[in-house]
Amino acid sequence: MNDKYKDFRRMVVYQIYPRSFKDTNGDGIGDLRGIISKLDYIKDLGANAVWLCPCFKSPNEDNGYDVSDYTDIMDEFGTMDDMDELIRELHSRDMKLILDLVPNHTSTQHKWFQESRKSKDNPYSDYYYWFDEAPNDWKSAFGGGAWQFDDVRGQYYLHTFAVGQADLNWDNPAVVKEMQNVVDFWVDKGCDGFRVDVIDSISKDIENDCNELGPRLHEYIRALFGREKTSHLFTVGEGHTNEIEDIVLHCAPDRDELSTIFIFDHMECGRADKFTPKEDGLGTLRDYLVNWQRKTSANGLLYSLFIENHDQPQFVSRIGNDRELRYEAATDIAAMVYMLKGTSFIYQGQEIGMPAAHYDSIEVFDDVESLGHYKDMICKFSLEEALEKVNFGSRDNPRHPMAWDSSEGHGFSDAEPWLLHHSRADEVNVENDLASDKSVYRFYQKLLALRAANDAFADGDVEVISKPDDEYFVYTRTLGDEKWAVICNFEKETEIGLPFRCEEPVLANLGRDAADGKYLPYECAIAKVSK
Ligand code: GLC
Ligand code: CA
Repeated sequence: MNDKYKDFRRMVVYQIYPRSFKDTNGDGIGDLRGIISKLDYIKDLGANAVWLCPCFKSPNEDNGYDVSDYTDIMDEFGTMDDMDELIRELHSRDMKLILDLVPNHTSTQHKWFQESRKSKDNPYSDYYYWFDEAPNDWKSAFGGGAWQFDDVRGQYYLHTFAVGQADLNWDNPAVVKEMQNVVDFWVDKGCDGFRVDVIDSISKDIENDCNELGPRLHEYIRALFGREKTSHLFTVGEGHTNEIEDIVLHCAPDRDELSTIFIFDHMECGRADKFTPKEDGLGTLRDYLVNWQRKTSANGLLYSLFIENHDQPQFVSRIGNDRELRYEAATDIAAMVYMLKGTSFIYQGQEIGMPAAHYDSIEVFDDVESLGHYKDMICKFSLEEALEKVNFGSRDNPRHPMAWDSSEGHGFSDAEPWLLHHSRADEVNVENDLASDKSVYRFYQKLLALRAANDAFADGDVEVISKPDDEYFVYTRTLGDEKWAVICNFEKETEIGLPFRCEEPVLANLGRDAADGKYLPYECAIAKVSK
């Protein structure tokens, strides 16, 4: 059988938030040359692909997710020559480039919008949704209503995100064509795939609920990725549905739509809502993972393994332990997730167990979403409580600059960074991690190397050995007569009994063999099952 996803299960995608990765020209903002300078660090970790958050021209109301020109580079990030060089440098290391395509909306500064607003009758007039009166009461994901009156055109336009992010009208065939051209431009440049922003929102039913999938969604996804020129690409959609029926339609191998999609429900671990924590344990994570491993493999789908991204506060701070057992928790979670079946995604900083930001003033925050919701919060909560909530849930948590070392600018920039470093950057940074005998990076490195060296981790069947009530997660990966056990204890010291015997662990985060079956908090081990 032709296995369409075989190579994709071997992909380890390192996600970069370019603004916060590495500054090389001293303006406090990360740039493409900074990324080029760190490619060996990424490659050595074991990644074979890089996903860049949007690096196209943008006024940065939502840090690049408001694109004003899809085929040019954001001024702060560098030039097209830098991008060409980055692509060459990646490919020479046998690494792939995944760009972040934002097809649902453009910046209101995009030429299409600037033309569109001029009149009700011009070549661009139907590129967006325009109405004399708001036709529904949809809300913006960043707080407030989703319809904005535009003085120039004298009508309302739709923005399901920030006011400066106008939703494109995909029912206009000219919009479909424009976006195909954007994709083709980057494919011609050598881009190997796309992460596709809020993909399941591009088709809309204005009469219905904002969260409902629109009637022409699949037609539009195929228009992008089901063409001869694009069907080889690796594509991962950002969607909001957790319904397996929808997910099958988005990414079943015979659909010519997406390779895979991020399923977000495990992001609810450790929180009651985006800005409110909840006491939770690793059992919750295990249950979500098990559920989706089963559903995706029953339907022949490719699963996306991830725990962090540029929108999600650091997982280790949220549900693990980012203090005295930070190394143990970060590495245990890594083994729980990345030995499963699917494509692996690792967000910058995750590989050293970077914690959440912990800022002490609202002034420090930058994120349009946090500031939008903060306005609502201070009507209901005290200022201290509102700040605590923002600190818990803000997207500035994953967006603080990479701390590369212990120097004053932490090796990110010689200038004042665009966003403050996290509050423990003197302690938690790449230099210290690599020098420590408890290095999260080195654990990831070994884990990914193990995965790469043994096909059972990419292609083998997953069998869950632990029971739902157990305080640990044990699963096996089996391919032919090769069988591996992955044993991950949770928060408490636990005795783990196995129904089979194992050889000595090939990888164990505490560097010991818990041969008596007694596992310490967050201890994990990966071992071959004895024949
Ligand atoms: C996605 C992105 C997020 C962005 C939003 C609007 O959810 O991940 O960062 O703000 O889309 O483009
Ligand atoms: Ca810079």
